[in-house]
Parts: sequence; structure tokens; C-alpha cells
Amino acid sequence: MSRIVYVNGDYVPEEDAKISVFDRGFLFADAVYEVTSVLDGKLVDFPGHAKRLWRSLSELEMASPVDEDTLLAIHRELVARNDLTEGLVYLQVSRGAADRDFAYPKEAKPSLVLFTQAKSVVDNPAAKTGIKVISIEDQRWGRRDIKTVQLLYPSMGKMMAKAAGADDAWMVEDGAVTEGTSNNAYIVKGNKIITRQLGTEILAGITRAAVLRIAAEAQMQVEERAFTIEEAQGADEAFVTSATTFVQPVVEIDGAAVGGGAPGPIAVRLREIYLEEGRKAAL
Ligand code: PDD
Repeated sequence: MSRIVYVNGDYVPEEDAKISVFDRGFLFADAVYEVTSVLDGKLVDFPGHAKRLWRSLSELEMASPVDEDTLLAIHRELVARNDLTEGLVYLQVSRGAADRDFAYPKEAKPSLVLFTQAKSVVDNPAAKTGIKVISIEDQRWGRRDIKTVQLLYPSMGKMMAKAAGADDAWMVEDGAVTEGTSNNAYIVKGNKIITRQLGTEILAGITRAAVLRIAAEAQMQVEERAFTIEEAQGADEAFVTSATTFVQPVVEIDGAAVGGGAPGPIAVRLREIYLEEGRKAAL
């Protein structure tokens, strides 16, 4: 059975879900996106994703095709029509179709596409074993705070990791870790969680915000600052967060075992609390 996909107001079978070849998302990567996880058929942290979407759109002077209530209704309708209990909803807004021109076209109407992907996100084996990462130079553009679909370098990074026998890559700029290819990066030293401060260099993860709040509530110390690969290799624990991985332990960095090569207690605990609270607050 094919999925039902949302395209500009219509719910259609995926074979019929089509966007113009003149769409600026296709021609210029002139599009932004969000990925929201689904647990028990409900959306985890939808308001956070919606808020970041409005910000991405406004940074690019792109009009929003729908308001927040409508967006939530579309997400829910798509989850229901696809009978999705666990996985994710992918959403993309592009500036729309227009003759190819670098300047933003005035007449283009933004296009909105959403689809679901069923995925076993909770019982993910990597959450139990932890993942191996390599470090690569961060060669992305300078506005990583905007969640655009320019994902070729992160794709290349995942391929570099694969070729090196690892699972993912942490990107490094001016000697400091920025983030993972599709997640935020953390280290733990004693009772302290260290993660890079927000700025244009990284994406403000919605999971990051929740995890830092949970950590503070659990009396853990949080330090938002840059760290190096060497510091991470010598840390007690390391982990990453994202909407699809939640909290995922990192057990090896550039071949060096972190925390004895097994998931650490803080990452495991944060994952448990995040899942519990995420489920409770899901819409
Ligand atoms: N990626 N940093 C980058 C570069 C990301 O692509 C993502 C998410 C994150 C974590 O953000 P959040 O916690 O809001 O998911 C950080 C999504 C999941 C993706 O591209 O599939």
C-alpha cells in the first residue's frame, strides 16, 4: 500500500505527489524543513518544531503557506491517514516555482509538502550499543541556524563515516566541534553536560532544548561552550540528540573509546526521561 502524501492542500498517493521542476527547492535548495517524531501516533514537541520553522522562513523572507493550527491539523491528518504509530513526519516548505533567477521571485507561491516514514525509533539497537563517530572538517555554509534542505555536505559526511567503519561524523571548525551531520553533539564530565553554545554555526535542536531543560531539572550542570575532539575523547561520556534519535550514546570518537566504549549512565538516563516526557506531552 502506498503512502498518502500531502502536497499543497491535497492528500494524494505517493506516486501522484509531484512538484514542479521549476520549484526553487529543486533548483536552489531554496527550502526549509522540519522532522517531527511520532510516538503512539502522536507528535513529539510539535510546538518547538513549528516555532523553529517560522524562524527559518522569516530568516529567508519566505511566506508561511499555512498557520500553526492548520499545520498541526495536516500533521495529524497525515499520521491518521497513514496509520502511523511510530516514526516521523517530514515537512518541507520551498519558495515555490518560478523562472530560474537568483533573486527571490515576487510572484512565487510557497509549496508545502509533508510525508510520513514508519520507523522503529524507540527500539533502536544503536541506543543500546552506542555509535562510533569520526571527525571531519565542517564545510557547510555559515547559516546553519536556518534548517535548509542543503544537506549534501552532511550526506558526504555520513558517507565518509561509513567508509571509515563508523556510524556518523562530528564536524569541526577552527578546532572545535560544531555538531553531528544531523544531530547536536555533547560530552559529559562528571555531573556536567557540555554542548556547543547556540549561534549561526549550529542548528538549535528542538531535542537539545528539551534535553538541556531535563538535565537542569535533574540537578545536572549544563555548560554551553565549544569543545575539541581531544576533550571529547577524554570525556566520561558522549552523546548526540535529534528528533529521530532522541538521545543516542557515542562510544568511540576517531577510533578512541569514550567512557570505556559503552553507553554512559547520564546519556541512558536522559534518553529515558526524554522519551517519557516526550510521550506525555505529545499532541
Ligand atoms: N536533523 N543539527 C543538525 C545539523 C540537524 O540536521 C538536526 C536534525 C539537529 C537536531 O535537531 P532536532 O533535535 O530539532 O531534530 C541538529 C533532522 C532530524 C534530519 O535532518 O533528519
